[in-house]
Amino acid sequence: MKRLPEKEVMDDETQVIAYAKADFAGVNQAFVGRLLAAHPGAARGSIIDLGCGPADIPIRLAQAAPEAKVTAVDASAPMIVLAKRAVAKAKLEARVTLVEGYLPGLPLPDGGFDVVVSNSLLHQLPDPAAFWGEVKRLVRPGGAVFVMDLFRPASEAEARRIVEAAAAGEDPVLKEDFYNSLLAAFSLEEVAAQLAAAGLPFAPTQASERHLVVSGVPPRL
Ligand SMILES: C[S@@+](CC[C@H](N)C(=O)[O-])C[C@H]1O[C@@H](n2cnc3c(N)ncnc32)[C@H](O)[C@@H]1O
Repeated sequence: MKRLPEKEVMDDETQVIAYAKADFAGVNQAFVGRLLAAHPGAARGSIIDLGCGPADIPIRLAQAAPEAKVTAVDASAPMIVLAKRAVAKAKLEARVTLVEGYLPGLPLPDGGFDVVVSNSLLHQLPDPAAFWGEVKRLVRPGGAVFVMDLFRPASEAEARRIVEAAAAGEDPVLKEDFYNSLLAAFSLEEVAAQLAAAGLPFAPTQASERHLVVSGVPPRL
């Protein structure tokens, strides 16, 4: 099935509220567990989360790793408003810093982070090379990368089946977003080609019926 790109930044109020209300607890906690298992040093490091949305992953990460500091970035102003509220409610302002910023070209230092993470951002971007370029720029020499995203199913019917299996009871706005995201996602082969072009010697692995993971330490230049 051909890729069908979707709208990039999530700044529509209805869409943002539906996303923030959705229950991603299982998948987000699994993201944190997998990250800390793959890169145990992250638990004491500085971590940047690209496309953090309402900050559920940064919060779970900070709670699971009390010595970690998390910088969480999103280009959507309404997402950042909700993220700030959630971080304040969790009393994590001292360890989770929110930045409203558009990638590429984030106003953050080269090599400034021990670990660069991202969940469900890559598929939203018109230019995946810009994403991997920013990942490489932000990670310190010897630091780690951990990225999870959807991968594109074989057909529209399979995408509908996945939405019904994973999000049957969710808001229809969220379900439509989820469907569009599956159609906009890259295949494992496409992500492998992106990584090779970016000089990142990792292979994406399939992590569930709809998720892929890219995890590794970029070579020092
Ligand atoms: C599908 S959401 C994922 C949110 C969060 N990572 C999660 O797992 O729940 C993708 C987020 O990336 C943000 N985004 C999209 N394009 C972006 C860009 N170029 N720079 C920064 N954020 C971007 C969107 O606004 C949205 O909040």
